[in-house]
Amino acid sequence: MAFFNWNSEMSVGIPKIDQQHQKLVGFLNELYEAMQAGKGKDALGKVLNDLLLYTKTHFAAEEQVMSTHRYPGYEDHKARHDKMARKVKDLHEQFRQGSLASPIQITNFLKDWLAKHIMETDKKYGPFLAAKGEK
Ligand SMILES: [Fe+2]
Ligand SMILES: [Fe+2]
Repeated sequence: MAFFNWNSEMSVGIPKIDQQHQKLVGFLNELYEAMQAGKGKDALGKVLNDLLLYTKTHFAAEEQVMSTHRYPGYEDHKARHDKMARKVKDLHEQFRQGSLASPIQITNFLKDWLAKHIMETDKKYGPFLAAKGEK
Protein backbone atom coordinates (compact mmCIF):
# COMPACT_ATOMS: atom_id res chain seq x y z
CA MET A 1 0.00 0.00 0.00
CA ALA A 2 1.29 3.39 -0.94
CA PHE A 3 2.13 5.96 1.69
CA PHE A 4 -0.41 8.41 0.31
CA ASN A 5 -3.43 7.14 -1.61
CA TRP A 6 -5.43 9.28 -3.92
CA ASN A 7 -9.16 8.83 -3.44
CA SER A 8 -12.22 10.30 -5.12
CA GLU A 9 -13.06 12.38 -2.04
CA MET A 10 -10.03 14.46 -2.95
CA SER A 11 -11.41 15.32 -6.37
CA VAL A 12 -12.04 19.02 -6.94
CA GLY A 13 -14.33 18.13 -9.86
CA ILE A 14 -11.92 19.45 -12.50
CA PRO A 15 -9.96 16.59 -14.11
CA LYS A 16 -6.94 18.64 -15.20
CA ILE A 17 -6.44 19.84 -11.61
CA ASP A 18 -7.01 16.36 -10.17
CA GLN A 19 -4.26 15.09 -12.47
CA GLN A 20 -1.84 17.69 -11.11
CA HIS A 21 -2.72 16.73 -7.54
CA GLN A 22 -2.16 13.08 -8.37
CA LYS A 23 1.26 13.96 -9.70
CA LEU A 24 2.13 15.71 -6.42
CA VAL A 25 0.86 12.66 -4.50
CA GLY A 26 3.11 10.57 -6.77
CA PHE A 27 6.20 12.59 -5.80
CA LEU A 28 5.44 12.01 -2.13
CA ASN A 29 5.07 8.26 -2.65
CA GLU A 30 8.34 8.23 -4.57
CA LEU A 31 10.05 9.97 -1.71
CA TYR A 32 8.58 7.61 0.86
CA GLU A 33 9.54 4.52 -1.14
CA ALA A 34 13.07 5.80 -1.56
CA MET A 35 13.34 6.25 2.20
CA GLN A 36 11.99 2.76 2.80
CA ALA A 37 14.66 1.44 0.46
CA GLY A 38 17.29 3.28 2.51
CA LYS A 39 18.00 5.81 -0.23
CA GLY A 40 16.99 8.74 1.96
CA LYS A 41 19.32 11.57 1.18
CA ASP A 42 19.90 11.45 -2.59
CA ALA A 43 16.29 10.64 -3.27
CA LEU A 44 15.12 13.36 -0.91
CA GLY A 45 17.16 15.95 -2.78
CA LYS A 46 15.79 14.84 -6.12
CA VAL A 47 12.17 14.70 -4.96
CA LEU A 48 12.40 18.01 -3.10
CA ASN A 49 13.69 19.51 -6.31
CA ASP A 50 10.88 17.94 -8.33
CA LEU A 51 8.38 19.07 -5.73
CA LEU A 52 9.72 22.61 -5.73
CA LEU A 53 9.42 22.87 -9.49
CA TYR A 54 6.12 21.11 -9.79
CA THR A 55 4.56 22.93 -6.84
CA LYS A 56 5.36 26.21 -8.61
CA THR A 57 3.83 24.94 -11.85
CA HIS A 58 0.71 23.69 -10.10
CA PHE A 59 0.17 26.79 -7.96
CA ALA A 60 0.61 29.01 -11.02
CA ALA A 61 -1.90 26.90 -12.97
CA GLU A 62 -4.52 27.11 -10.21
CA GLU A 63 -3.95 30.82 -9.73
CA GLN A 64 -4.32 31.47 -13.43
CA VAL A 65 -7.65 29.64 -13.64
CA MET A 66 -8.96 31.35 -10.47
CA SER A 67 -7.87 34.73 -11.73
CA THR A 68 -9.35 34.22 -15.20
CA HIS A 69 -12.77 33.59 -13.67
CA ARG A 70 -12.41 36.17 -10.90
CA TYR A 71 -12.82 33.58 -8.17
CA PRO A 72 -13.75 35.46 -4.97
CA GLY A 73 -11.37 33.43 -2.77
CA TYR A 74 -8.36 34.15 -4.97
CA GLU A 75 -6.37 36.38 -2.59
CA ASP A 76 -6.62 34.06 0.38
CA HIS A 77 -5.82 31.04 -1.75
CA LYS A 78 -2.79 32.67 -3.31
CA ALA A 79 -1.48 33.70 0.11
CA ARG A 80 -1.62 30.05 1.20
CA HIS A 81 0.28 29.00 -1.92
CA ASP A 82 2.92 31.68 -1.38
CA LYS A 83 3.46 30.58 2.21
CA MET A 84 3.86 26.94 1.19
CA ALA A 85 6.14 27.80 -1.74
CA ARG A 86 8.45 29.62 0.70
CA LYS A 87 8.39 26.63 3.06
CA VAL A 88 9.29 24.15 0.31
CA LYS A 89 12.06 26.49 -0.84
CA ASP A 90 13.42 26.68 2.72
CA LEU A 91 13.39 22.90 3.01
CA HIS A 92 15.29 22.63 -0.23
CA GLU A 93 17.81 25.19 0.94
CA GLN A 94 18.28 23.39 4.26
CA PHE A 95 18.80 20.19 2.35
CA ARG A 96 21.51 21.78 0.22
CA GLN A 97 23.25 23.03 3.35
CA GLY A 98 23.01 19.60 4.99
CA SER A 99 20.90 20.85 7.89
CA LEU A 100 17.61 19.23 7.03
CA ALA A 101 15.55 17.63 9.80
CA SER A 102 14.51 13.99 9.52
CA PRO A 103 13.19 12.95 6.09
CA ILE A 104 10.22 11.15 7.59
CA GLN A 105 9.10 14.32 9.35
CA ILE A 106 9.40 16.29 6.13
CA THR A 107 7.48 13.66 4.19
CA ASN A 108 4.70 13.62 6.76
CA PHE A 109 4.59 17.40 6.82
CA LEU A 110 4.26 17.59 3.02
CA LYS A 111 1.61 14.89 2.95
CA ASP A 112 -0.45 16.54 5.69
CA TRP A 113 -0.17 19.94 4.06
CA LEU A 114 -1.21 18.67 0.63
CA ALA A 115 -4.14 16.60 1.89
CA LYS A 116 -5.42 19.48 4.02
CA HIS A 117 -4.94 22.09 1.32
CA ILE A 118 -6.78 20.03 -1.28
CA MET A 119 -9.62 19.11 1.08
CA GLU A 120 -10.09 22.52 2.68
CA THR A 121 -8.88 25.09 0.15
CA ASP A 122 -8.79 23.64 -3.37
CA LYS A 123 -12.14 21.90 -3.09
CA LYS A 124 -13.79 25.26 -2.37
CA TYR A 125 -13.12 26.54 -5.88
CA GLY A 126 -14.35 23.29 -7.52
CA PRO A 127 -18.04 24.07 -8.04
CA PHE A 128 -17.32 27.71 -8.92
CA LEU A 129 -14.77 26.90 -11.61
CA ALA A 130 -16.66 23.88 -12.93
CA ALA A 131 -19.69 26.14 -13.41
CA LYS A 132 -17.43 28.41 -15.53
CA GLY A 133 -16.70 25.47 -17.81
CA GLU A 134 -13.29 24.39 -16.47
CA LYS A 135 -12.61 20.67 -16.85
FE1 LIG B 1 -3.93 22.37 -5.61
FE1 LIG C 1 -4.32 25.38 -4.15
